[in-house]
Amino acid sequence: MGEIKRVGVIGAGTMGNGIAHVFARSGFAVRLCEVEQRFLDRGLETIKKNMAREVAKEKLTQAEMDASLGRIAGTLERASLLDCDFVIEAATERFEVKRALFSELDAILPEGVILASNTSSISITRLAAQTGRPERVIGMHFFNPVPVMKLVEVIRGLATSQETYDAVKTLAERLGKTPVEVNDAPGFVSNRVLMPLLNEAMYAVMEGVATPEAVDEVFKLGMAHPMGPLTLADFIGLDVCLDIMRVLQDGLGDPKYRPCPLLIRMVDAGWLGRKSGRGFYKYS
Ligand code: 3HC
Repeated sequence: MGEIKRVGVIGAGTMGNGIAHVFARSGFAVRLCEVEQRFLDRGLETIKKNMAREVAKEKLTQAEMDASLGRIAGTLERASLLDCDFVIEAATERFEVKRALFSELDAILPEGVILASNTSSISITRLAAQTGRPERVIGMHFFNPVPVMKLVEVIRGLATSQETYDAVKTLAERLGKTPVEVNDAPGFVSNRVLMPLLNEAMYAVMEGVATPEAVDEVFKLGMAHPMGPLTLADFIGLDVCLDIMRVLQDGLGDPKYRPCPLLIRMVDAGWLGRKSGRGFYKYS
């Protein structure tokens, strides 16, 4: 396996643009691939805005920002990822979407290229089984906001090789992140533990135990969480929270993972949190 210099990032949404941001900032050439120009434009605009914020905070110089942006090439063609040494996908969190993506990437990319998924809960072992290179498929789970959060949860599928794990661990360290190794299981560690907390906070609101503001104050002041669980759920996206609860419910089969009915109703209403302007709170 040669040194990784050029990476492909699939999906320019919240996670994808954050991942492209940190790779470019760390000196990698990045191909950022989307399905529509408007999504690509929005992702590139977000990267610019977040890098400008880092320049304002003196974490990055203007020259470093310009060089980093210059390393990112947007594309709508998956075939243009052909010369990438490593590809990570942060596409829609639906198994069918990722299944099709993994088999297509497997067909077009050279044999030695590692395929990583930023999935928050879909089985890496199942994704790997869609390819002819299961030993080179791995989970590389970043956290929002990607440029800020230090953790990368590195998830081994059943067939992931030690060589692939070592390469991705080194890659995370080159990004200035701290990799933590976990095995493949529904929700991995992060979302298996976090999502039931957020879900339970929603039950507390639904049952009238406390307002969203009061629940959040309890966690901010009592447990030193930077955001209370309902603010965090809005930040992550209520649709994403619901999808993950369903993966936990299906995969682990325990009724304790039942999604809160209030969460289901809010998603049905299109109240998806910060991104839609309304969730447990209203956003202008
Ligand atoms: N890009 C670059 N820098 C950013 C940024 C971004 N998108 N967002 C925030 N920052 C920087 C700010 O510039 C600031 O820098 P400074 O420390 O030099 O001043 C720093 O981060 C803190 O930001 P703010 O001062 O604006 O605001 P806060 O102090 O409230 O911090 C926060 C914001 C970092 C988001 C903090 O509230 C936090 O850590 N929240 C918890 C986030 C969390 O739990 N994320 C994980 C979600 S779960 C997940 O992603 C997994 C998925 O599978 C569901």
